[in-house]
Amino acid sequence: MDFKGKLVLAPLAGVADSVFRGICRSLGADITWSEMASAEGLVRDWSRNAGLIGFTAEERPYGIQLFGSDPETMAAAARLAASLGPDFIDLNFGCPVPKVVRRNSGVALMRDPGLVGRIAAVVVATACDLPVTAKIRSGWDDSHLNYLEVADELFRAGISAVTLHPRTRAQGFSGASDWSQIARLKSLSPVPVIGSGDVCEPQDALAMFEATGCDAVMVGRGALGNPWFFARARALVDGLPDPGPPAVEERFSLAAEHARMTAGLRGEARGVVAMRKHLGWYARGLPGAPALRRELFSCTSLAEVDRLLQDYQRGYQCTRTG
Ligand SMILES: Cc1cc2nc3c(=O)[nH]c(=O)nc-3n(C[C@H](O)[C@H](O)[C@H](O)COP(=O)(O)O)c2cc1C
Repeated sequence: MDFKGKLVLAPLAGVADSVFRGICRSLGADITWSEMASAEGLVRDWSRNAGLIGFTAEERPYGIQLFGSDPETMAAAARLAASLGPDFIDLNFGCPVPKVVRRNSGVALMRDPGLVGRIAAVVVATACDLPVTAKIRSGWDDSHLNYLEVADELFRAGISAVTLHPRTRAQGFSGASDWSQIARLKSLSPVPVIGSGDVCEPQDALAMFEATGCDAVMVGRGALGNPWFFARARALVDGLPDPGPPAVEERFSLAAEHARMTAGLRGEARGVVAMRKHLGWYARGLPGAPALRRELFSCTSLAEVDRLLQDYQRGYQCTRTG
């Protein structure tokens, strides 16, 4: 896997599904990640849970992310995941969600670097020649900033790249992502380092490359309702002018297409419900967005989505011309 200079779509549970990953990839994301999947769930009931990590060729290069705490279960899940033919397997040692942490998974494992190393080693040994990468946080809390120690265990286990989201479990998503930790990890790492955290505007991607020397920049919340982020950031990183944000017509045309594709994947009723948050994000920052978002959040059919988006555009054009 080549991570050098790449702009990658973050793993985003409940958000970056196959449809959204395909859209981001088509608009300039270089690499995509699955939503995190429970190793235990995959091993216990593969046929029921494999859908979460399924993908299409358009999403490649694509990595499947696993979380769990038992090395053998993680290895068994990695073997199953590898059978789908992704480009790499990623291990989650950063999720702060209480449900995950209670089961000693995600960021809880940062408290046990030795176990992180054992999990990584056994997955590397059984991942059927696929590269294995890992995603970590800074540590458990401010008095336990042990990302370098955990990374060292990962290097010795033979991982191929490491992503650092430099916040602690205690911080969750509050405060600022401490990019100096990404720079420090990069200066010591024998494998590519991917930086994550607070790349909110396209110019932040260039700033992160420059400030940290990281190999790749990961984009999470900045891409929500805004997959054009990648093309704009790419232009800036390549020293070209920013093509700027899309016009409202382009935004809503993609939002409607995104809704149709999601309905195609999940069925119309479930697909439209799953789309509500995305539709809200596509409307973000527009004049009258709060009222539009309220209506979008209660949509139940594709026809209703289309009607609301078209009505808004007609009103928007009137205010622009009139
Ligand atoms: C809704 C949401 C879901 C997330 N799901 C995952 C996940 O499944 N696996 C993971 O490693 N990180 C997950 N993250 C963390 C992101 O990948 C990323 O590291 C974090 O949001 C910081 O980057 P950002 O400031 O660009 O959003 C999630 C974040 C959000 C906001």
